[in-house]
Order: sequence, then structure tokens, then C-alpha cells
Amino acid sequence: MSTTRYLLGCLLVLTLLEICLHVYSLRVTPPTHPLDPPFASSCRIPPDSPLPHDDDTAPYDVGLSRENATILMLARNSDVEGAASAIRSLEERFNRWFHYPVVFLNDQEWSEEFREKVGQEASGETVFAQIPAEMWGWPVDGEGREWVDREKVKDAMGRLSRMGVPYVDNENYHHMCRFYSGFFQDHPALKPYKYYWRIEPDVSYTCDIPYDPFRHMRLNHKTYGYSIALWEIGSTVPSLFRTVTTYKSSHAIPTTPLWTSMLSPSWAPLPLRWALMSDARLFHSRTPTGDAWSLCHFWSNFEVADLDFFRSAAYRSYFAALDATAGFYYERWGDAAVHSLAAALFLAPAQLHWFEDWGYRHPPFQHCPREGVGCACACDRREGAVPETCLRQLRRGVDP
Ligand SMILES: *[C@@H]1O[C@H](CO)[C@@H](O)[C@H](O)[C@H]1NC(C)=O
Repeated sequence: MSTTRYLLGCLLVLTLLEICLHVYSLRVTPPTHPLDPPFASSCRIPPDSPLPHDDDTAPYDVGLSRENATILMLARNSDVEGAASAIRSLEERFNRWFHYPVVFLNDQEWSEEFREKVGQEASGETVFAQIPAEMWGWPVDGEGREWVDREKVKDAMGRLSRMGVPYVDNENYHHMCRFYSGFFQDHPALKPYKYYWRIEPDVSYTCDIPYDPFRHMRLNHKTYGYSIALWEIGSTVPSLFRTVTTYKSSHAIPTTPLWTSMLSPSWAPLPLRWALMSDARLFHSRTPTGDAWSLCHFWSNFEVADLDFFRSAAYRSYFAALDATAGFYYERWGDAAVHSLAAALFLAPAQLHWFEDWGYRHPPFQHCPREGVGCACACDRREGAVPETCLRQLRRGVDP
């Protein structure tokens, strides 16, 4: 009797020990010094005297030649007011000193009204381009035949929209997410450029940006820049994380600290992790070892990034694997999650940049820099503030 009790006791201790070891194995070792400080923490030079600076390393880059970069906005003709106000804000806080070009993309033909009203706000060159049909619409196979089961899509959209998932029954929204996940980097209007800054109708910038972000991305070897990190709505991506982890294992992609930062370690004992979590139907969103994605990801309506990352063979192969499952339609996979998970697969923590010093408002949320960071900010930190829980988790590999 006491032997049985003793053995059970041992088993319990071993199980607890194993759980602790498992969770411990998924910790992220913080670096000894900050790996991703803001590019600038103040204005350095008053923004109203935009004169060339002698010191090439100073963050105030006005007067230097422009980088191989463009601003990018995807919009509809009906977004005309929101698009104009977003460009106005961009110009006021940044582009009036730099005059970067703006590429506008639309799946429809641009209206004269949009071109005129929005175009006149921009201080640089503007390009109004249409998205070719093969980049926006139902996926086709090698013979040009559509293969997505529309009945299944209809059922899925109905189910998700009854659950209250926003935009799920809007076919175009799915096409948009897929376009931004796998095609935008190859749009002919973006072909000439290496870096882009994504901007959406109705957003605004609430601090001055007195330096060239593209230049600092290049000098600091940054690939992907973000502002806000949030939790994805789980019901829009039930099988996304499982699909990505399967891809990761089948391509033997090593685990990066950012990948580990995105995990919620499982506290289930080992046999349970094996037995239950490896059942893809029961626990979609987990890895085969039972760990879940925390759903934290970077919000992609703000992006300053290197297009060549999305043009790389590794990224293309990743996107093709996701696209082959039609998860953009049977579920509602968003480009934010797809981009963030790609960054977690392929990038070192220091290759990402948090634009902490930029005030950015995307109603109803905003990022407003803390005291001592940012230039001439006009935002209220208490208003529409996003909890920084996700952001802090994702930055465990760069913040000491
Ligand atoms: C800009 O970047 C693109 C993509 O990397 C490249 O193909 C192109 O040659 C570059 N243009 C210039 C002027 O450097």
C-alpha cells in the first residue's frame, strides 16, 4: 500500500517537474542591452527649421537623398475623405520635408474625384494603380481553374458571422487579406521599390517624424517595423497556427526567440500533451507539442518594411503553403497574423523595429509615445490606449 502511494507520489513529482521543465524550455532569454531602441527620442532640431544637418549620423535627415522607398495606400473610391485626411496627416508630420512618392492601390478603377482630392494632398509623386485580377480574387490552379469550394466558404462565413466576427461575410475583405499576405510586394507599381510604409484611410500621425525612417531601417539592418501589437480574434484563425507550425517542422526552420515569444506554453502534463494536443481537429491552434500561439501579433495597418523580405523565396514558399489550404476563405486569416508569424519564422529579434517614438492613431486605438520619447506629440495617452501586454511579450528578445 505504502509502495503504491510512494510510486504515485514519485509520478506526481516527476510530472510536475516535467511540466516546469517544459515551460522553462520556452522562456526567452533577455539580451544584456536594448537591441531595438527608438531611432530618435526627441526632435533634435526644431521641426520648423528643416535644414540639412552636417552630421551624417544625426537623425534629422532632411536634405539627404531619398531612399529607395514609397508610401503605400490600399483604398476604395468611397474612402476618399478618410484617405485625404490620412495623407494630410502624413504630410504635416513627415512628408512635407521628404516628398516620398505615394502609391495608391484599388481593386477597382480609380474615380476622378479620388485622384483629385487625395492627390492634391500629397507633396511627392502619386501613382494611382489598379490591382490585376490575378492578385485579387479566388485562387486558381495551374490550369487557371478556381478550386476553392464556394459552398464551404458560404457555410464558414455564415457560421463566423453569426459568432459576430467582423467583415467575415465580405468576400472582398478575404481577397484583401490574401492580397496583402502574398501579392502586394509584386504589384507593378511597387516593383521599383525596396521599402514601403503602409498607410490606411482614416489613420493619423500625432507626433512629428523629423527623420527618414527608411534610411534608419537600412542603416540599422531592419526588415520589419510596427507600432501596435494586439491579440488576434481566435475564431478567425482556428487552423492558422497549426498550418504554420506544420510548415515550420516540415521545412526544418529553426526556432527564433520571436517565435518562442509568441507561444503560450502548455501546462498540461506530457502524456496529455501528446495524446490530445497532437490531434489537429481538437486543438487546431497548438503546436504538435501542445503549446498555443498567444494570438499576439503586430497590427499590419501600420508597417514600414522591406519589400524584399516578402519577395524572398522563403516567404513565397510560406505563403504558398498557407494559400494551398484556402484558410483565407474557409476561415478569415488576416495579413497581420500572416506577416507576424512570418517574421517569427524568419527574422532575428533585432531585425524588427518598434516605432515607439511615433504617435499613431487608427480609430479606436492609438499608440502615443511615453514622456521623453517622440517629437512635438499631440496625443493623450489615456485615450484609446492599447494595453502593452502583447507588445511586451513580443519584445522579450530585444528588451533587457
Ligand atoms: C530599389 O529596390 C529594388 C528592390 O530591391 C531594386 O530592384 C531596385 O534596383 C532598387 N532601385 C535602386 C535605384 O536602387
